[in-house]
Amino acid sequence: MPPSPRRGGDGLLVRLTGEGLGAEISDIDLRNLDDDLFAELHRAWLQNLVLLVRDQQLTGSELIGFSRRFGDLDWAPVQETGRRFVEGLPEIYVVSNVLEKGEPIGSLGHGEAAWHTDMSYVEKPPKASVLYALETPPSGGNTYFVNMYSVYVALTPELKQRIAGRRIKHDGTYNSGGYIRQGVTPSVDPRDAPGALHPLVYVHPETKRPALYLGRRRNAYIEGLSLPESEALLDELWRIMDHGQFTWMHAWRPKDIVLWDNRCTMHRRDAFDPHTRRILHRTQIKGEWPPA
Ligand SMILES: [Fe+2]
Repeated sequence: MPPSPRRGGDGLLVRLTGEGLGAEISDIDLRNLDDDLFAELHRAWLQNLVLLVRDQQLTGSELIGFSRRFGDLDWAPVQETGRRFVEGLPEIYVVSNVLEKGEPIGSLGHGEAAWHTDMSYVEKPPKASVLYALETPPSGGNTYFVNMYSVYVALTPELKQRIAGRRIKHDGTYNSGGYIRQGVTPSVDPRDAPGALHPLVYVHPETKRPALYLGRRRNAYIEGLSLPESEALLDELWRIMDHGQFTWMHAWRPKDIVLWDNRCTMHRRDAFDPHTRRILHRTQIKGEWPPA
């Protein structure tokens, strides 16, 4: 049973998921947050890593307005057609399998999206992402989150020793749906692939807690090791991450908002029936520091 919700004074109603991370915030309208309530929401987010807020009725501009409370936003990449996902709102990225006149209105299709941290292959990865559900399929397409502070804590002292001070190459060849990014020629050797090197153990700039920073598995490489050694060590770390006890699964409903801390979590998505519709809008809050 998840713990009961608690309310501090007139503040937020926070219900922990009772799983590896995450909390649901209720009785709140994200269009109207005064500074005190926002400060509480921000604290709850840092503590719980992922927040779910249901029944929000937001326009695209209101979604951007809410997201901006957390910092400057990245612009979404343009679609392969050269068009913006949402005309006039360049901050919005559309995650969808829906076709209109034969053209996809969004990215990532209907397949599984493997575990990843958003854009960890750039020097300053985004610090947070916000997803807002417009249409959701009757089943499937659930999103899973994993608590990378807990994964780090779970490593044996011997394993912590082996990864201390090491950096990991985050591959920028593929997006989270497994599609090759525009303008990239894939390489079979992760050492030649485009991407960024970041510390394998990362200290969160706000909570100051250490987290394991894996990014994504495909084409990952631990600097200074031979390829087979790097693969073996990565497999060991990924097995611990994917153990199940550090995760929380979210089954989407329309009007759900989910906000996650991209610095201490990873996420993945189940596949869903391609004949059903799923449309989510995403914003991304810029990272302020390279991981260190
Ligand atoms: Fe993602």
